[in-house]
Amino acid sequence: MALDIAGLRADTPSAESLIHFNNAGAGLMPRPVLEAVSAHLVREATLGGYESEALAADQINNMYDAAAKAVAGKPGEIAYAENATRAWDMAFYALDWQAGDAVVTCQSEYSSNMIAYLQMAERKGIEIRLAPDDETGAVDPASLEALLDDKVKLIAITHIPTNDGLVNPVAEIGAIARKHDIPFLLDGCQSVGQMPIDARALGATMLSATGRKFLRGPRGTGFLWVAEEWIDRLNPPFLDLRSATWTGPASYEPARDAKRFENWESYVAGRIGLGVALDYMNTIGIQDIWDRIQALSAALRTELSAISGISVHDQGQQKCGIVTFSSQRISAADLSTALRQEHRINTSTSSVQVTRKALLDTGVTDMVRASVHAYNTEDEVARTVDAIRKVAQ
Ligand SMILES: Cc1ncc(COP(=O)(O)O)c(C=O)c1O
Repeated sequence: MALDIAGLRADTPSAESLIHFNNAGAGLMPRPVLEAVSAHLVREATLGGYESEALAADQINNMYDAAAKAVAGKPGEIAYAENATRAWDMAFYALDWQAGDAVVTCQSEYSSNMIAYLQMAERKGIEIRLAPDDETGAVDPASLEALLDDKVKLIAITHIPTNDGLVNPVAEIGAIARKHDIPFLLDGCQSVGQMPIDARALGATMLSATGRKFLRGPRGTGFLWVAEEWIDRLNPPFLDLRSATWTGPASYEPARDAKRFENWESYVAGRIGLGVALDYMNTIGIQDIWDRIQALSAALRTELSAISGISVHDQGQQKCGIVTFSSQRISAADLSTALRQEHRINTSTSSVQVTRKALLDTGVTDMVRASVHAYNTEDEVARTVDAIRKVAQ
């Protein structure tokens, strides 16, 4: 079914006053999300936080069903988290890391994940193995497979890197993980909400997602999906009275479902808003969203590439809604600021990224990142390209 673009824009409060090409930073919340979050905050202020939580039990629990639907999982496989990083951490630190264990990851792994590996290397003596990229800049599954041996305790890959328009070939990597019986932690922070995700079909064991980006949920929300057969094989780095039951003076029992990765206190209005954002996406249809994101970003890339002095840096065979580029004449920070201040166009910048070593080697130290969503339009692409031409030439 074709997307109702006018409807999507009518649902997006700032769609007509702002060109928002920073969806990889934080998407604009659609009106139903904004209203659900605001209504709950008002209810908390009027009735009390705990009393409001009891009244909103169905709305709160809806998040589990909606998230499960978004990743083709089961509600009991979903844990709410305050962001994608904490969701990912709850999975990574739940493995029983020992000296000599190895993690296999990619060149374009997200910085926070890399920091966690480095911390575990320092703390426990684990080894970090970086799978080489193929000639397009995406992870090369065959080279990744060549790094596997019986020391490898985890394969952890970022589906869509934060600073590149590429999509890593995670289904092939997942198949390799399954073949070698190694758990696969997928960072879906930039992919959930942007493209169809079937976590199990991708071969993932665990998948982390954030609420505020392509899902268009509130900030400070996210979730973790864990394949049900793995839940009781993972020992969360910390437990509390939500993730476990105090069964006796000297005993406790972790929750049997993915709630063992949650904590007791959380942003209840955010939870509700995340559920509404997931419902909104599920109702519109993620395949249509993905088709439109790809079409808009491809148009943006093509038009930017035609501007003299502008270089587009996205790698990979399969590309997504993130478009990275730089200008020979103006820094990324100045270009992004001028777009925002002079043209009401939101973009962000990716500064020096260890993950883009190949790019650094060519002297590009920072880039503008423009990231489109389904509610954006061809006209906005054209106006943005015009503005970039004016600012950067
Ligand atoms: C690929 C990737 N992973 C993880 C994160 C962290 O997400 P969060 O800020 O929700 O913790 C980001 C954020 O930009 C990201 O791009």
